[in-house]
Amino acid sequence: MDDKNSALAAKIISHTYVDSGVSSIKSVHKRVRDLLASRSIPQQGWPDSLIDEVIRNFSRMDSNNFLDNVGVGEREGRVACGMVARRHFYLSHGIGRSGDIAAEQPKAAGSSLIVKLANALALDYVRGICGMRNLKSCVIMPLATGMSFSMVLLQLRQTRPAARFAIWQRCDQKSCFKALLTAGLTPIVVEGVINGDEVTTNVEAIEAAVKEHGAENILCIAVTTSTFAPRVPDDVPAVSKIAKAHNVPLVVNNAYGLQSTRCCHLINEACRVGRVDAVVQSTDKNLLVPGKCFAFEIISCCVIVACKSDSLSVFNCVFRRGLGDTNSWRGDCDFSVKEVHRGFREALSRSRIHVPDPGRLHYFTLARTRRLERNPSAPQRNLSLLARQTRGACSETRRAAAQNEAQYDIDSHHC
Ligand SMILES: Cc1ncc(COP(=O)(O)O)c(C=O)c1O
Repeated sequence: MDDKNSALAAKIISHTYVDSGVSSIKSVHKRVRDLLASRSIPQQGWPDSLIDEVIRNFSRMDSNNFLDNVGVGEREGRVACGMVARRHFYLSHGIGRSGDIAAEQPKAAGSSLIVKLANALALDYVRGICGMRNLKSCVIMPLATGMSFSMVLLQLRQTRPAARFAIWQRCDQKSCFKALLTAGLTPIVVEGVINGDEVTTNVEAIEAAVKEHGAENILCIAVTTSTFAPRVPDDVPAVSKIAKAHNVPLVVNNAYGLQSTRCCHLINEACRVGRVDAVVQSTDKNLLVPGKCFAFEIISCCVIVACKSDSLSVFNCVFRRGLGDTNSWRGDCDFSVKEVHRGFREALSRSRIHVPDPGRLHYFTLARTRRLERNPSAPQRNLSLLARQTRGACSETRRAAAQNEAQYDIDSHHC
């Protein structure tokens, strides 16, 4: 309510009541001013009602929501179903322009603001909260991790048009591998090294592959911080040194890694000692957002046309919790990881079972025993866990996870 309106309101009800109401409205304006000036996550989270109000105000800045709007063009942000329009806060123009996701959308000042702010908040999150201070910029993409990875590769291709290969430190999750194929690359798969019951990065084999195929023919080296046991996080700093020495881009699949101080540290350290071109991580896995993916650029730039609902979700969820809550939540996560790990170690201390340091997953490996052989198969064990309402746990038999099938035959229990 501006001064003229509050003066008019004071003619209807007592001005002292109007003044106290107006000061409440002004405190909202102050929060918005702080946000626009600092472009960073507030110390204290905002209540849902405030986030709702602010988004609605931004939405009012999009031309389809101008009160006197007469949309005569063929693309005026019309939405056929009211329910869909409400779900998107009436923000219906989308973001970006002419194939450039970072460009402002002329008919949508509000949407453009939300996207820029959401990218700034995401960068603040990874730098300030996760400690990856060496990351330089960030873009939120409305895509899954694998597809975002492909976009990064296609972007890199512009700078290395002749490169047809990608060196991929194997991890048994398909997204990244499919991303390499989608980008039209020929993957050179480097098998991991077995260390005890962990599978670790084969740094020497990665360097040998670079030399064998020629650095100029390699689009990038792709590594993973956090994936399924028995793989442990890749030695990103060591690989980043190879990338720097041979002038080959390095792209990191950090799908789950934002929640792990260890994974974030590995990436930050890699930026310091070597070369990292892009890091891809998922919003739903790390930020409790029902969206998809972040791609953090360090050197290269990723461009793609997008709709805005993922940026909106990041904006809302990051603001809902603020710095204070987010930091304590991350602290809780770290604590829980250590506690579960400690619990496993304690419970299994008298058995032959080893509990490796997981990075992300807690798992323990069981050597073959007669009792295990009598047990149902891994899928049956998984079903019985599900029947006990246990989600996110998985039990699997992993044969030949690395080079030697005969040597490597374990049961892994993740949770
Ligand atoms: C290592 C790794 N990368 C990527 C993903 C997810 O990829 P996407 O978002 O493409 O499904 C996962 C999910 O489990 C994963 O473990």
